[in-house]
Amino acid sequence: MLTRRDFVQAAGIGAAGALTSMIGARGREHAVWSLLEPTLHAVEPGIICLASNENPVGPGKTVLDAVRTAFGPTGAQPGRYSGAASALTEEIAKQFKVKTENVVLGCGSTQILRSATHLFTAKDKPLVGTIPTYEECAGYASMMGHPVTGVALDSEFRIDLDKMANAAKGAGLIFYCNPNNPTATYVGARATREFIARVNRESPDTTILVDEAYFDYVTDPDHDTHVPIAIENPRVLVARTFSKAYGMAGLRMGYAIGHPDTIKKMAEWDGGGGAGSLNVLALHAGIAAIGQPPDFTANERARNTAVRDFTMKWFADRGMKPTNAQANFMFVNIGRPVKEFREACKAKGVLVARDFPPFEKTHCRLSFGTMEEMQKAVAVFGEVLGKKVTARAA
Ligand SMILES: Cc1ncc(COP(=O)(O)O)c(C=O)c1O
Repeated sequence: MLTRRDFVQAAGIGAAGALTSMIGARGREHAVWSLLEPTLHAVEPGIICLASNENPVGPGKTVLDAVRTAFGPTGAQPGRYSGAASALTEEIAKQFKVKTENVVLGCGSTQILRSATHLFTAKDKPLVGTIPTYEECAGYASMMGHPVTGVALDSEFRIDLDKMANAAKGAGLIFYCNPNNPTATYVGARATREFIARVNRESPDTTILVDEAYFDYVTDPDHDTHVPIAIENPRVLVARTFSKAYGMAGLRMGYAIGHPDTIKKMAEWDGGGGAGSLNVLALHAGIAAIGQPPDFTANERARNTAVRDFTMKWFADRGMKPTNAQANFMFVNIGRPVKEFREACKAKGVLVARDFPPFEKTHCRLSFGTMEEMQKAVAVFGEVLGKKVTARAA
């Protein structure tokens, strides 16, 4: 059996072809990986959970009130299949100044990622993604027996655009996760636009799935959505989610924006406009969430940025180098195997993320809690890591 480590070591040597055939033969790698993950069930009181990229303050009163109302007699009638999918689609279209034909909903953006993988990869059309990245597409492609090509990151842990463009030739789908999970790094909007144009030129049949899950958290000044390109270009699709800045991870609601032809194909996979797999309470939550005043996301970004800066500085002051985090989590070189660190932190009530090969010997992913939680968490990190820590190079 190919272990997760074998997979990553193959990727690390840049053996895209070898990796492709191994994964194709191996089946759903993701299933093996998930056995290694901490369980993501509700966290016990008193435990600080920094192990998955959620919003620690949750969805807020506006959204919770909408869910409560949806339960009531004048609300969504949970006993019936919902018509609210079209109302949320209209709200999203209004927000982005696009048409409803440009939008498809999903049960979380996970469904969007799976549908795109299903549609655009094949036995002779690989999925291309970085190593590491969010594994949904790679796991789903390999489950279907479709090849996956892994591309190493650049020295700053960002997507290596040259390597990615070269690997894209003849590929079915590029998973362009920006900011990237787990590294939290971001490629600027201009470079991304150039990358898309290059792939369109050099491999015109390849679709690029730009995952903007963490869009609202980016503070890099060269920041922009790729929705305007996606609505014009059938080979570009943007995935979005309510799970992050809107704090609705457990409610499960995401969407894609793209060209009407691409969205139509996606909708066929998603049970007719997504409605077949959607939860009526999440639809009402989504309508309330996206209808909040424009400063909602700005305030959430500011809250996260303060926590991010505090936590990154804590590590940097102790000689541990974080990547340039542009999300609600960070990736930091703690100079020791993450497993040891994770177990020691867990014993003191703080959960940090699982291993992310090939960086499991050095780098830990930490999702940001509230400021109060991070202040408590760094006290635990200090005890576990010792006062004078100098991280080894990666
Ligand atoms: C980059 C990225 N995309 C998509 C998802 C899936 O999110 P959801 O299905 O909750 O929308 C995640 C979850 O963490 C993620 O990190």
